[in-house]
Order: sequence, then C-alpha cells, then structure tokens
Amino acid sequence: MIQKILIANWKMNPSSLAQAKALVTEIKKASKVFGESLVVIAPPTIYLGEVQKIIAKSKLLLGAQNVSAEKEGAQTGETSAGMLKDAKVEYIIIGHSERRAKGESDEVINRKVIAVTDLAMTAVLCIGERIRDDEGQYFEFLHGQIKSGLKKLSPKMTKSLVIAYEPIWAIGKDAKRAVRKEELHEMTIFIRKALLELYGKSLAYKIPVIYGGSVDLNNVGDFLHGGMVDGFLIGRASLDAKVFTEMVAITKSSGSPKIVKV
Ligand code: PGA
Repeated sequence: MIQKILIANWKMNPSSLAQAKALVTEIKKASKVFGESLVVIAPPTIYLGEVQKIIAKSKLLLGAQNVSAEKEGAQTGETSAGMLKDAKVEYIIIGHSERRAKGESDEVINRKVIAVTDLAMTAVLCIGERIRDDEGQYFEFLHGQIKSGLKKLSPKMTKSLVIAYEPIWAIGKDAKRAVRKEELHEMTIFIRKALLELYGKSLAYKIPVIYGGSVDLNNVGDFLHGGMVDGFLIGRASLDAKVFTEMVAITKSSGSPKIVKV
C-alpha cells in the first residue's frame, strides 16, 4: 500500500512571515489527527527556516518549491539541493508548470531530479499537458515528460520519487474546471504504465502518483477514489488552514486507494 501524500504548495504566499507562521501553526495544531498520511508544507524558500522551527517534532514534513540543478557557484538567486537538505527539507517540487513557463527545460528538470535524489530527498516531478487536443497527442507529450524527467534515475532511486500529474489547464484561479475523476483515472493508469515500462512492476507500483489542479474540499474525496491517486499537490486550498486540514481528514477517512493494475 502506498502511503497517501498531501503537499501544500504555498507558491509565493502568504505575503508576510507573520502570516506564514500563523498558517503553519494552525495546521500543526490539527496535525495530531493526521494519522498515516504524509503531509508536506512547501513554503517560499525565504520562510523555510521559520516554518521548520514550528513544525519540528510534529508530523508535518518540510518541502521546497524549487531547487538548482547545480551544486554551488555563480548561480545568482538559486538554492542548491545541499542547502535545502541542510534546512531539513525532505520533499522538493521539481518542474512545476509555473517554473517550466519561465523556461526550465526537460534537461534541467532531469538534472534537478538527480541532484535531489542523490542526496536522499524526495523529488516530486510535476508533469502535465497545457491543452487537451482531440487527437490525444497529450499522451505522447506526457510520456516524453516522464521519460526525460527520469533519465538516468536508477531503479534504486525510485524510492525517492513522487510523480505529480498537474494538467496546466486545471491549475490556478483561471482554470476553467478541475479534471474529471474519469479523466484522472485514465491518466493515473497511463502514468503508471509509463513507469512500468521504465522500472518494471515491482518498483512502478510503489511510486506515488498524485494529482494537482483545483483540488478543494468538494472534489478531494472523489479524486481519491475515482481518480485512484495516492495524494494531492494543493495550491490555493492549502492557504486556508481549516480547509487544508479538513482535506487531510477526508483523505485519511477515505481509506487507502486500490492499486491501479495496468
Ligand atoms: P491550485 O494549484 O490547487 O491552486 O490549482 C495547484 C498547483 O499548481 O500545484
């Protein structure tokens, strides 16, 4: 059974450290009843230290939203995997569509995945199509993102990997709609199949496949069962402690999703 994972991607929010501390303190208070689910808080880099102090000794885990592919040197504004490790970060979101939109290539994203897993942190590789065409070309596109994102990632390292399916058209406040649970189910199977080709059955079934894009209180339960995912990458809804903790509770009480056999 894959443990469920919920990652709060705060993006560039909240707008002050005081608000960030208040938000994580409230989530921490509720975390005693989170049960077996893994709950990761990924604040802006500048807040990592303060958030870490608050969540230390709690069940919450620390995440980062980005990482440099380089180890050190002339990389203005960047943060290395080693630095994040020192800051006690355990999960790192890589290749989020908002980063890809700023020019991050598949090659760079792959180097980030390797940099992070080499240091025994978990790489959360984001993949997702911009649009859905009637010919189904997005399948090929996603297959390409998976293959290039995981290039040279050894089978052993897949224990430090999470795949986050985030269709760009379903992300953020401008999204027309969230994905439908049937569509999500289809994508989960497709992604699992791609992982199977790369790593074989025994490993592929252990890699968590999570979903992100307009996940909220109303659809989280449906996605978990109907979409057969192992968890969620949550943007907007993670900025409200009550809503977010309620989503963790729903995920917990929904029981474990069945493994999707492909
Ligand atoms: P959203 O963002 O939940 O606000 O749609 C998800 C994400 O981009 O990770």
